[in-house]
Amino acid sequence: MDTALTRLVGVRRPIVQSGMGWVAGPRLVSAAAEAGALGVLGSATMTVDGLREAVREVRSRTDAPFGVNLRADAADAGDRVRILLDEGVRVASFALAPSRELITELKEAGVVVIPSVGARRHAEKVAAWGADAVIVQGGEGGGHTGEVATTVLLPQVVDAVDIPVVAAGGFFDGRGLVAALAYGAAGVAMGTRFLLTSESTVPDVVKARYLAAGVRDVTVTRAVDGLPHRMLRTDLVASLERAGRSRTLLHAVGRAAAFRRLSGLSWPRLVRDGLAMKRGKELSWSQVLLAANTPMLLKSAMVDGRTDLGVMASGQVAGVIDDLPSCAELVERIMKEAEETLEGLTASP
Ligand SMILES: Cc1cc2nc3c(=O)[nH]c(=O)nc-3n(C[C@H](O)[C@H](O)[C@H](O)COP(=O)(O)O)c2cc1C
Repeated sequence: MDTALTRLVGVRRPIVQSGMGWVAGPRLVSAAAEAGALGVLGSATMTVDGLREAVREVRSRTDAPFGVNLRADAADAGDRVRILLDEGVRVASFALAPSRELITELKEAGVVVIPSVGARRHAEKVAAWGADAVIVQGGEGGGHTGEVATTVLLPQVVDAVDIPVVAAGGFFDGRGLVAALAYGAAGVAMGTRFLLTSESTVPDVVKARYLAAGVRDVTVTRAVDGLPHRMLRTDLVASLERAGRSRTLLHAVGRAAAFRRLSGLSWPRLVRDGLAMKRGKELSWSQVLLAANTPMLLKSAMVDGRTDLGVMASGQVAGVIDDLPSCAELVERIMKEAEETLEGLTASP
């Protein structure tokens, strides 16, 4: 299936395994890439050196193109971009809109720039600044997310920009891929579906929680970092929502300290990142500090397997996924279903 996405990034399938902190590491990304999808490393939770190693590891496992997801507002974004350029990474994806200068720098170096957006005006902005494509995430998607459902946001963005649009939020099968193409998208990006594959390094006990979840077990909360964040509904989430501001703040300071040790970031750099995050948004300092929590809370679940202590970012699709295929099985299944769906649509009644 040839689309504007497959042509733009040189993959065989119009499917993106989107960047996920602590989840989209070299093993998952190389498996997705080998399966013909665009694998994207989640680098926001990696150190700068860790990112270089991860890029090299993916390279050693596959010759297929892959991408790196970056936080455009991180203080060390420049160092990370350098790695992409040095190591010849094909695609840069962004959790928040990158600046015009950053887009220009990457494009001049031949890197395809695909920011993720959750609103039409953000899509219009990055398109005007020269982004090659956008990933549009509707509200049902996992992690930080917006309010507008994919079925409304996707056609809105497709109509607003003339670069390829990749649909995200709520996709897991071949019908969804065909639906996204029908809306005018050039492919789909999936997070939760790829988290639930055999090559995902998320501990089995955590995957079991996702598989057991129904659609109503996935919620959106601001209690973790002040921003709307879609995740599995757990006792921890309930207690964070109940906790008074001061207790939450105390936890935030402790976790920010732990993240600082783990990431190798200095306090001044963390504060600079916090300031960048605060800029232009209605965030209080306590919310900014809480935001420093997110990586540690995610790590507790995604790496350490602590379903009691960690948050499990998740799309609503967790409620309809009940298996752990390999990336190759998943991608082939989606493509087969998509073709059958298309045939069913065009078959005479
Ligand atoms: C566990 C998890 C971690 C995520 N981490 C990031 C991240 O670091 N950067 C980012 O841009 N998006 C992140 N996302 C969002 C995904 O890239 C993707 O857009 C989203 O999962 C799509 O919705 P879906 O889960 O319904 O497929 C994360 C999502 C999940 C489930």
